[in-house]
Amino acid sequence: MTALTLSTAAAPGLRADAIVIGVAKGAEGPVVAPGAEAVDNAYDGRLAGVLDTLGATGAEGEVTKLPAPSGFKAPLVVAVGLGAEPEKDAGYGAEALRKAAGVAARALAGTRKAAFALPVGDAGDVGAIGEGVLLGAYSFDTYKENGKDAKGKSKAPLAEAALLGARPRDKEHKAAVARATAVSEELNRARDLINMPPNDLDPEAFAAIAQAAAKEHGIKVQVLDVKALEKGGYGGILGVGAGSAAGPRLVKLSYTSAKAAKHLAFVGKGITYDSGGISLKPAGHNETMKCDMSGAAAVFAAVVAAARLGLEVNVTGWLALAENMPSGSATRPGDVLRMYSGKTVEVLNTDAEGRLVLADALWAASEEKPDAIVDVATLTGAMMLALGSRTFGIMANDDAFRSALHEAAEEVGEPAWPMPLPEHLRKGMDSPTADIANMGERMGGGLVAGLFLREFVGEGITWAHLDIAGPAFNEGGPFGYTPKGGTGTAVRTLVRLAELTAAGDLG
Ligand code: BES
Ligand code: MN
Ligand code: ZN
Repeated sequence: MTALTLSTAAAPGLRADAIVIGVAKGAEGPVVAPGAEAVDNAYDGRLAGVLDTLGATGAEGEVTKLPAPSGFKAPLVVAVGLGAEPEKDAGYGAEALRKAAGVAARALAGTRKAAFALPVGDAGDVGAIGEGVLLGAYSFDTYKENGKDAKGKSKAPLAEAALLGARPRDKEHKAAVARATAVSEELNRARDLINMPPNDLDPEAFAAIAQAAAKEHGIKVQVLDVKALEKGGYGGILGVGAGSAAGPRLVKLSYTSAKAAKHLAFVGKGITYDSGGISLKPAGHNETMKCDMSGAAAVFAAVVAAARLGLEVNVTGWLALAENMPSGSATRPGDVLRMYSGKTVEVLNTDAEGRLVLADALWAASEEKPDAIVDVATLTGAMMLALGSRTFGIMANDDAFRSALHEAAEEVGEPAWPMPLPEHLRKGMDSPTADIANMGERMGGGLVAGLFLREFVGEGITWAHLDIAGPAFNEGGPFGYTPKGGTGTAVRTLVRLAELTAAGDLG
């Protein structure tokens, strides 16, 4: 991954391949953002005019390259759009900085070192720029020869980013870089797992990766294999995994802090491939279904990040891993599963498998009586229809907790929206045979899935459900600091929730 440093060097003398500056959309054309004074001075204060001539407007996502002025060691200036110029005395805002840094870092793929001279107000800005660089520079080329693109060009991610305008000896600035690095590295690892082809990442492989990372970071790890799942009575996870040659796993990651007053449990849907099972998905609906373990990847990343940051809160991560395949041993529509909680479920549609693996993991998480549980899942196409491909839905059995999660998401720049759990939709899942069916009314399918999960949360436990089916996997082009493919959505919301809980700012 890109190496991030803080530098006090003046822009002209800096040895780098490029200097990144910010340009905002002013009332009368482009405005050069603070941080770029040295570059502007070398252009005799005419940089805004030069940018205007080149067609720059300062719009978000815009990249304008121009030769560096004489006297600069770096040959190239990259002006990146920051969007609307803020009101007088207001800063640019963390998300604008994060996005601009991400866009610039991606535009600099193939170069070695860049200096970022974006506007820095406080330590929060340092962290945001750092995150934007590390997340925006991400690329997944494990499976490409020499990491070359279609034209045979090497587009290795930017190797080194020096942030100017920050103070390398300032405790808060240093902490911001350390936080950005830990969170972004783990988030990028989640992206790697999501992008990994499902023939290489089955439940066993995922569990092994989690096990190794947990060891490295002092996290206790327990992997339940098929035998252990059978012994424990995990009918939901076993039922979903029954059709695959690669058996399911339940991974429990326990990060504990000696100073913790609270305990959070994160539960992730980890379907390493969702074919739909016997209720097979048609072609056109299965090409991206390697992304169906994005919830488990996010939970994994968040727990490791919490450990790396040494947060003073206990965090348990549960990865419910299975491959949903059709075969002679697969669960059939009409089968009844006895779940870990003891409840029975009539499986009407084997493609509604996420709720089955989550039900077992939610019940297992509940047994420890944590202060709150948050599950993360690419659960329903319906949530995608409702909120589009960039926003995840938040459901909960507690209004205040749902609002707290929504606020945390907003703070870190992850678009999210609260969704209800209407009681009247519950009866649609009544089954003539079992305690509940795994499907209900088609309308409001995302909420129906949420209501199903609620049945498997222990009495009196605060719980929220994030349906990330839309934003988990970016099928379009990259934007801001979000690449094509696995995005790592929800990681930063979970980490923020853990931080707020550690600080005692929640419940
Ligand atoms: N993994 C899918 C949901 C999904 C769809 C995620 C598109 C990402 C993109 C989930 O397992 C599923 O198949 N859900 C069904 C449920 C239905 C059968 C009740 C759906 O949404 O159609
Ligand atoms: Mn499915
Ligand atoms: Zn699924």
